[in-house]
Amino acid sequence: APPLREIAARRGLPFGVAVQADWFEGDPGFAATTAREASMLVPEGSTKWYDLRPFESVFDFSELDPITQFAARHNQTVRGHTLVWHAAMRKWTYDALNEGPRRGRALLETHIDRVLGYTAPTIRDWDVANEAVADPWNSSELLKDTPWLRSIGPDYLDLAFRLARQKDPTLTLTYNDYGCEHDTDFDDEKRRRVLALVRGMRDRNVPIDAVGLQGHLHRDNSFSARKVTEFVRSVLALDLKVIITELDVIEPETQSDPAARDAKCAEIVHAFVSTVLETGGCTAVLCWGVSDQYSWANTQPSLTPAEGAPGTAGSKVGGPARPLPFDDRYRRKPMWYALARAFEGR
Ligand code: G3I
Repeated sequence: APPLREIAARRGLPFGVAVQADWFEGDPGFAATTAREASMLVPEGSTKWYDLRPFESVFDFSELDPITQFAARHNQTVRGHTLVWHAAMRKWTYDALNEGPRRGRALLETHIDRVLGYTAPTIRDWDVANEAVADPWNSSELLKDTPWLRSIGPDYLDLAFRLARQKDPTLTLTYNDYGCEHDTDFDDEKRRRVLALVRGMRDRNVPIDAVGLQGHLHRDNSFSARKVTEFVRSVLALDLKVIITELDVIEPETQSDPAARDAKCAEIVHAFVSTVLETGGCTAVLCWGVSDQYSWANTQPSLTPAEGAPGTAGSKVGGPARPLPFDDRYRRKPMWYALARAFEGR
C-alpha cells in the first residue's frame, strides 16, 4: 500500500504526526516510518514553553532543531504547538505571571517575538492558544481559570493572536482544543463554548484562521456525525478552517482482546475523520504520535482519568494502550487502514 502521506496528498491534504527528537535518534524504525508516512510534523513538546524557556532569559531550540532538520530532509512541513497554554511551563513562568498584568503581557510579547522570529523559515502554522475554554464539569465560565487569565485578563487570547499576526502576517493561526468530538453533554457544552470563543474573536477582528480539533477520541464514547458536522459547519461559517491536530484513541481499559480493541479504535477514527473531511473545510490531519510505543497514553499512567471521562486521557489499565496507526514494531494497524479509507472517501 502507498504511504498515508501519498493517499492524503491525492485529496490535497497534509497528513502529520507528533514527534520528539529523541525518538528519531535511538530508533531507526521510528525515523523510517515517520519519513515515509507523514508530510507534516508537530513537536509533541519541543515548542512548548517548558522546553523553549528553561529560564526567562534563555531560549532553547535544541530539541526543535533536529525536528525541523528531519522535516527538511523528508519534504515535510512543521506545525508549532503552542504559544500560550496553562500547562508545560517552568516554575519561574508561573511565578512571573503572579506579578501582575504588565509582567504577563511583556512575557507573552517577548516570547512570541523571539519564537516566531526564530521559527519563521520552518514553521508557518501555529497553535497560538491551546485549551483555553473552561471544562463544563467544573466551571460555568467561558474561559478556563489559568495563570494567563489571572495575570493578563480575558483578552490574553486576543493579545496572543494579534502579536503573532503582527510579527508574521502570513502565518496560519489556530485555536486548539479538546472535547468537541463526542456525543456527550460535556462535549455539547464544550462545542458551544469553543464556538462562542471563536465567534467573539471574529467579531472583535482578532486574526484567527483555524480551529484545531484535537481528536483524542474515546474508544467507548459514542460519536455523533450530526453534531460534529454541525459544529464544523458553524466554524466554517465564520470563515475559519478546521484542522484535526492530535488524533489518537483513548482506551478506558486495555485488558480485552487487542484485535477487538483495534477494530473499535479504527471504526471511531474512520467515522470521525470521514465526517470532518466531508465538510470540505479541513486543511490537515495529524495523529498525536506514530506508534503505540511512543504515546502519551503509555508514558503517563499517572494521568489516568475518571473512567469514561471525555476530554482527558492517559488511561493505562492492564496493559499498553493501542492509540495510534502503527504498533510498537511499526506494523500497520486497523487504524492505519481506517485513515487510508477516510482519505480516499470510502
Ligand atoms: O522530558 C522529561 C524528563 O526529562 C523527566 O525526567 C520526566 C519526569 O517527569 O518528564 C519528562 O517530561 C515529560 C514530557 O511530556 C516529555 O515526555 C513531562 O513530564 C510530561 O508532563 C510531558 O507530557 C506531555 C503533556 O502534553 C504536557 O506537556 C505529553 O507528552 C504530551 O503528549 C501532552 O500533549 C498534550 C497536548 O500538548 C495538548 N493536548 C493534550 C495532549 C495530551 O495530553
